[in-house]
Amino acid sequence: MRKKTKFIHGGISRDPYTGAVSVPVYHASTFKQDGVGHFKYEYARTGNPTREALEKLIADIEEGTHGFAFGSGMAAITAVVQLFSAGDHILATDDVYGGTFRVMTKVLNRFNIDVTFVDTSNLDAVRDAIRPNTKAIYVETPTNPLLKITDLRAIAGVAHENGLKFIVDNTFSTPYWQNPLVLGADIVVHSATKYLGGHSDVVAGLVVVKDEKLAEDLHFIQNSTGGILGPQDSWLLIRGIKTLGVRMEEIESNTKKVVEFLADHPAVEKVYYPGLAGHLGHELHRSQADGFGGMVSFTVSNQEKALDVLKKTEYFTLAESLGAVESLISIPSLMTHASIPRERRLELGIEDGLIRISVGIEDIEDLLEDLEHALG
Ligand SMILES: Cc1ncc(COP(=O)(O)O)c(C=O)c1O
Repeated sequence: MRKKTKFIHGGISRDPYTGAVSVPVYHASTFKQDGVGHFKYEYARTGNPTREALEKLIADIEEGTHGFAFGSGMAAITAVVQLFSAGDHILATDDVYGGTFRVMTKVLNRFNIDVTFVDTSNLDAVRDAIRPNTKAIYVETPTNPLLKITDLRAIAGVAHENGLKFIVDNTFSTPYWQNPLVLGADIVVHSATKYLGGHSDVVAGLVVVKDEKLAEDLHFIQNSTGGILGPQDSWLLIRGIKTLGVRMEEIESNTKKVVEFLADHPAVEKVYYPGLAGHLGHELHRSQADGFGGMVSFTVSNQEKALDVLKKTEYFTLAESLGAVESLISIPSLMTHASIPRERRLELGIEDGLIRISVGIEDIEDLLEDLEHALG
């Protein structure tokens, strides 16, 4: 099966009990047993048929063997880091999503799991940061909001030479454009709230692995800690994933035109997009992904100007989040990255006048007119 077919026919594509072509929402918390210990499903925290259909689907489309669905991207990430123990050390990309930074620095530290943030696009920096108690490397590529690129094959090599697990947050690229498990990752995580759901109507997280022992350990954590995704939201995700291919193609096409427009606009100073030939990591990204995605960041002269742009757009909705059919706009310095001290933010390159957009699938002419009007 090719990708677009897999999105529709992967996993459990129809209800095995009725033949319904859309797997139903099984609103059931428990299941009748044929005799003590004889059952297909036992209790819905452990397994539910709708969630199972989603978990098999994400495993298929990420080229893994086992998928796990959680109540949010953060619940998925938290479950993954619970694979580690007190005294362990993790290396993570220095500009990971703010919520990931928060859980790593304000929750994991209380359980004596230490995290060092390093520029994972710099292999030497990664090698130098490995300690005797390091157990994993956690990477986002492209990153948020500057779309920095990490070499997945090379980091997989470093991780495995040192006996470390390699974890990749694939939210930005989606399995349509990039499959980290094929490039050597051990664990893939998703905020399925974004492109996989695609319609700003569900909060969810997914994890995929390709190793039996990891799958067993993750299922144990999922079942023990219980941060599962409910059947209604699982169904919404299955429905969203069916159109992932066509949405990503349309987003890619719109984004290219938005980027060309921004690059030529006199009010725009810098444009960050992995599809630009001058973007650091452009060639590397091409070598590990089939598309560049719908996330673009750009700078205007200062924060006041950025706020003015945000106030004036009509179709680019001012909102947190990304990856939906509707275009979204945000200002990282005051929104997603507001919790990072200004000095550190500037060190990372997240300037006051930086604007991030998530391009949707509206008519491109409307999107360009909207930006033209807002940029003045
Ligand atoms: C790259 C990335 N990972 C993880 C998350 C967390 O996901 P959620 O908001 O579904 O908990 C987000 C949320 O924005 C994200 O952008």
